[in-house]
Amino acid sequence: MTVEELRKDFPILENHPEVIYFDSAATSQRPRQVTDAVRDFYETANANPLRGLYEWSTEATARYEAARAHVARFIGAASPEQIVFTRNTTESVNLVAYTYGLANLKPGDEIALSVTEHHSNILPWQMVRDRTGARLVWLEPDGEGILTDAEIEEKIGERTKLVAIGQVSNVLGVTHPVARMIERAHAMGARVMVDGAQAAPHMPVNVSELNADFYAFSGHKLLGPMGIGALYVKQEVLENLPPFLTGGEMIEYVTRESATWAELPHRFEAGTVNAAGAAGLDAALTYLERVGFPFIREQEEKLTKRLMGRLASMPYIRVFGSGDPAKHAGIVTFTMEGVHPHDIASVLNEDHICIRAGHHCAQPLMQFLGVGSTARASLYFYNTEEEVDRFADALTGVREVMGYGA
Ligand SMILES: Cc1ncc(COP(=O)(O)O)c(C=O)c1O
Repeated sequence: MTVEELRKDFPILENHPEVIYFDSAATSQRPRQVTDAVRDFYETANANPLRGLYEWSTEATARYEAARAHVARFIGAASPEQIVFTRNTTESVNLVAYTYGLANLKPGDEIALSVTEHHSNILPWQMVRDRTGARLVWLEPDGEGILTDAEIEEKIGERTKLVAIGQVSNVLGVTHPVARMIERAHAMGARVMVDGAQAAPHMPVNVSELNADFYAFSGHKLLGPMGIGALYVKQEVLENLPPFLTGGEMIEYVTRESATWAELPHRFEAGTVNAAGAAGLDAALTYLERVGFPFIREQEEKLTKRLMGRLASMPYIRVFGSGDPAKHAGIVTFTMEGVHPHDIASVLNEDHICIRAGHHCAQPLMQFLGVGSTARASLYFYNTEEEVDRFADALTGVREVMGYGA
């Protein structure tokens, strides 16, 4: 298996060899196998799943539930029942905040979270704080961007009721010691919400081994369609979780005055579900498993090492996070002296290079790092060394366009 062969599966990359897509942390590209699975759903099995008694509907249901079982296997959940389909990680964290958070937190309780969090794993907890009187406690990382044992011991304590942690930072690419945090949280009687949006595309995840209480990821960041995400909830927590959205599909029996709830996990999937998206996600997981995480990791590390090597020779570039390319999950965030990140991204766009510039939905981290915004190149296994070299050459061009010597 070579990258060149794999790229043939990605029509958008094949059709646009002039484009360098370095924004996979925002959303990945999708192989043909995924778009085929979505189209095949609509062309051969389209009906409202979970409702009809006729063949198309039962087939739609079968594909939807097969996707759920695949997600469970993919992240090591004991049973498909523990997987709730959502739109994305943002919705998953909100589900946990509005259900578990509002039902269980009270004044004096603490929610511990890291300054490296994405806004999606901050704002729902600010809402819980405002409505329950709980307090937010912030964990700060070391120079590499990683949370230390000392910080974990100090900030996760007896008053902690919930820990919200992004396993991999979408800005620094570092992986936090989530297993260690979960162990500490459980010893203190707290539950842990893991945001796996940037972890699941890059490394094997096993929620049972991690002993996570909640684990979320988005399909669109790991080759799947937009609009489908998954939330894992530990069985003992799931059984006591009040419903989130209410309406069709999530009920067992409704009278004029009241309702009883459908069995798990359908209780948390109100309204018509995204079965086509789930079928696409199923295909995305199959594709990822075929490529394999050892290959993904090796390719990302090779590219990141090359990119960081090139950047190191540019004295006007500052790279954030670890100096070790193996600790970046393909994410390289940087600033260029004297040039605003938006200008970097705009000038690179002239060369058909796609990177992200701004605060990356992580403003508390920007404040912690003492910068307003940064540029971010995020690579995935389908990127090439040639693209890295073209990107690095184009960066020196940015300096010149902005009026500096090379
Ligand atoms: C770490 C992290 N958490 C959460 C999200 C939100 O994901 P989504 O927009 O799919 O809900 C992102 C998206 O960039 C992310 O990087």
